[in-house]
Amino acid sequence: MSRPILIDCDPGTDDAIALWLALGSPELDLQLVTVSGGNAGLDRTLANASAILSLAGSEVPVVPGADRPLMGRFTGDVRVHAADGLAGVPLPRGRPPAPGLAADAIRTALRGAGPEELTLIGIAPATNLALALATEPALASRVREIVLMTGAWGEGNWTPAAEFNAASDPEALSVLLMAGVPVTLVTLELTAQALVTPERISAIRARGGGACLRAACDILATTPPSRRLGGAGHPLHDPCAIAWLVAPALFSTRPAAVLVEGGSGPGRGRTHVDRWGRTSADPNAAVAETLDADGFFALLGERLARLP
Ligand code: BDR
Ligand code: CA
Repeated sequence: MSRPILIDCDPGTDDAIALWLALGSPELDLQLVTVSGGNAGLDRTLANASAILSLAGSEVPVVPGADRPLMGRFTGDVRVHAADGLAGVPLPRGRPPAPGLAADAIRTALRGAGPEELTLIGIAPATNLALALATEPALASRVREIVLMTGAWGEGNWTPAAEFNAASDPEALSVLLMAGVPVTLVTLELTAQALVTPERISAIRARGGGACLRAACDILATTPPSRRLGGAGHPLHDPCAIAWLVAPALFSTRPAAVLVEGGSGPGRGRTHVDRWGRTSADPNAAVAETLDADGFFALLGERLARLP
């Protein structure tokens, strides 16, 4: 039986690959895609999400959500994702988005689910998911797991202290961490292990495949290498959250108490991850720590090759 999921995203180069990995994985039953601003403005991320799904022949509804976080505004990240959010790789226009708003659509999906049935995957600022759960907390009982690509136990990639998604809406991330459902965190330390190199792109390209695989490889090849990781490649963040659900044996995890820093100082968005039980706080998340990177890229290539 495939696992019912919804994905909240802000495409975004790595969001695109994550959506295609989910669509190519029969273990997952993608029921809804919700979109927020983040890597680019909402109009761009929404158009990208529709184009990504349409290229894969998917008719899963794509619903627009937050164009700003709970406080302040989104900043965008043109350095990594370019102004179009997809590193300048053009995709054919997708189907029009579904009517409605993300938080409403998420609540509707949860109301229609059984107890602990639906898995929520967040690969964007946590705004849409937090709005849905904060406005009807009883729906947490329908959630099987929340999987988030967010945070870091060390240095950030947006500010010295904070990872991009966590920095974009720390208050929303706090809501999810306190929702009382199992949360798995895929942090920067995990995604640093999913390093995209020219050799790995060539191996994926060599599988042939269709338009999705070719576009994925073009996006991977165009995304700039990470200075933070020594320039050898770039980390493929968001697909790791999908891979955790498809092939958990590729990962190791550790329970930890995770707290998000708010406020307006330089630590805003920092995730304090107590991996070693140094505080008296009970663990509220499983933190993914290690990844079998070769297994991950083999899985990614194999699943991309199944798509049109
Ligand atoms: C996260 O921020 C975005 O730029 C990526 O899409 C990913 O979700 C990595 O910090
Ligand atoms: Ca993202």
